[in-house]
Amino acid sequence: MSKKQKEIILSVCLTCTLNKAQNNNKLAGEKLAQKLIDKFKNTKNVTLRGVNCMSNCKRSCIVSFTAENCFTYVFGDIDPENSAYIDSIEELLLSYSKSDDGFLRRRHRPEIYRSNIVGRFPPINSKSDIIINLK
Ligand code: FES
Repeated sequence: MSKKQKEIILSVCLTCTLNKAQNNNKLAGEKLAQKLIDKFKNTKNVTLRGVNCMSNCKRSCIVSFTAENCFTYVFGDIDPENSAYIDSIEELLLSYSKSDDGFLRRRHRPEIYRSNIVGRFPPINSKSDIIINLK
């Protein structure tokens, strides 16, 4: 019996800016969002939502993803003009989907998503061995 597919919430900052991406009056975040809409329009287990600022403006463009009882990840420095980010995000989410608690080792992330991680947050009641309960 196959495992139920993980429902993933993918968020993209709509208001991120990048100087080189602003020459046709569209914010870099909006461009990235449109490319992600196109990429995932037929992917049933990925919900895409836009957010007006994800409070990581210095690392524009920003995306995050999460799922129930799974680690939440935030990635930054994404250039919507570089198709490698768009092409590889599907592979990134596939690795995430295969991991029971969503934990992604560096080697399990596509090359382009190995150095631009901004945050990794464990789920409530996580049993991960990277967590030390202090109180
Ligand atoms: S404008 Fe994108 S994180 Fe603030």
